[in-house]
Amino acid sequence: MLRYAIIGFGGLGRVHLSNLEAINKERGDLSLCAICGTTAENFKKSVSLNLGTADVSGVDITNVNFYDDYKELIDVEKPDFVVTALPTYLHEEVAVYALDRGVHTFSEKPMALNLEQCQNMIDASEKSGAFLMIGQCARFQKTVQTVKGYIESGIYGEVYRAEFQRYSQTPMWTWNNWILDPELSGGCVIDMHIHDVDLVNYLFGIPETVRSVMTEKKVKRESVFSQYEMAGGAVILTRGDWSLPQKIPFSASALICFEKACVKMRSDGITVYTDDEIITPDITGEDSHVLEMREFLRCITEGVESEITSPRSVKESVRIALAEVESAETKKKVIL
Ligand SMILES: NC(=O)c1ccc[n+]([C@@H]2O[C@H](COP(=O)([O-])OP(=O)(O)OC[C@H]3O[C@@H](n4cnc5c(N)ncnc54)[C@H](O)[C@@H]3O)[C@@H](O)[C@H]2O)c1
Repeated sequence: MLRYAIIGFGGLGRVHLSNLEAINKERGDLSLCAICGTTAENFKKSVSLNLGTADVSGVDITNVNFYDDYKELIDVEKPDFVVTALPTYLHEEVAVYALDRGVHTFSEKPMALNLEQCQNMIDASEKSGAFLMIGQCARFQKTVQTVKGYIESGIYGEVYRAEFQRYSQTPMWTWNNWILDPELSGGCVIDMHIHDVDLVNYLFGIPETVRSVMTEKKVKRESVFSQYEMAGGAVILTRGDWSLPQKIPFSASALICFEKACVKMRSDGITVYTDDEIITPDITGEDSHVLEMREFLRCITEGVESEITSPRSVKESVRIALAEVESAETKKKVIL
């Protein structure tokens, strides 16, 4: 049996609990022992997210203990693994506490607010041998894996240009509005935009240079527009904006130009356009949050590293996003 705990029980905490319970219907070896950040009375309250709500009302909490101090939870329960879905300013502190005690840790994205915090998490994992995975879930999307296959096989030639964009209503759904304070969340660039930064890093590598602008009309660090120059000459544009009206639906998309085809990627599918045909590959499958959790469980059960993600690689995404902030603040191109 793998005993696990959820630390941070807002939007994403509920998503992960719901997914773990669904996965356990197949595996049968997961046991939720504790939750930190809610009470038995508040457990079933639903929470809004830009991507919908996660229903945990069917979860049996008869044998679940509730805590408001994560250190007490870890010390008393000694879980095999924790899933932390906390405000970003707590990511490093909680992950390091768990990892230092040998507890495998799945920690939500972004990895942390700065590189020193990211490195502390890596060091704690390497020192104790406990596995650390960061929830940069977009890497696991079937659309992204399909595009990765095109890049690696060279079927459509080299990529010479790409654009990634992600738009959201102003996020008004987090606990105490922590997400709107860049000191606590990093703002749109470190929080939401990090998904596209991480996709660029995963699919194409680390840019050679970054040039960015940010806006602050409605909330601080609400949008970012960036241009990356890649080794080999490709140019990539990324845009993230979370200052949009509440009625606008969330959207994420990309346009990737290969020498012999152009690929449009959306959250729900991809279309490949060539001069002769339009191809719509089958991308049906599980949600990226489910797929990343399956990978986390596989890694801790089999004692293997993931080929899709690693804390070191995800730390590089934070480095790129921080370079975007630096570029916007100094109005200069930043060399990475
Ligand atoms: N992977 C994704 O697609 C995705 C999507 C949304 C959010 N996130 C990330 O997930 C994390 C959580 O975001 P969210 O939307 O769930 O936020 P949220 O505000 O809904 O939830 C955070 C929860 O943490 C709790 N909390 C605060 N301090 C605590 C403490 N000391 N101990 C225990 N609990 C504490 C709060 O009560 C709240 O319930 C963030 O880092 C965010 O960037 C990831």
